[in-house]
Amino acid sequence: MSLFKWSSAHSVYLPEIDAEHRAIYRLGDELHKALLAGAEPAQLKPILANLLESADQHFRHEERLMRAVHYTAFAWHKQQHDAARKRAKALAKRIEAGDSAAAGELLKFLSDWLRDHLAVADRMMGARLRNYLAFNTSLAS
Ligand SMILES: [Fe+2]
Ligand SMILES: [Fe+2]
Repeated sequence: MSLFKWSSAHSVYLPEIDAEHRAIYRLGDELHKALLAGAEPAQLKPILANLLESADQHFRHEERLMRAVHYTAFAWHKQQHDAARKRAKALAKRIEAGDSAAAGELLKFLSDWLRDHLAVADRMMGARLRNYLAFNTSLAS
């Protein structure tokens, strides 16, 4: 079974955010497949860079949206992003240095982290953003 399979159960009901999550899952799957195929650290490097960059851009996007609506749980949510950024970066460094255990650790960490973060923090953020949009749309009409 794939560690990185996006399904509608992961939806936070914001199409733009769901699309970014799907892209991160696809990159996680790409990394998983490369590892299963026995890729060398040099071959993993661009996949890792792409995955980390996509995740960082996605986190920044969510952080901009949360700031824009003065989301009260912003600091708590950003702390989770920052912890993931730090952990993923450290593991990517170990992988590039040829540490063979680090790749498995990164896959497990990412897959668990995404499942938990999407299910709670991103869902809560999605609800807040949808309420904000619905309220402001009703004011405008
Ligand atoms: Fe998030
Ligand atoms: Fe997210």
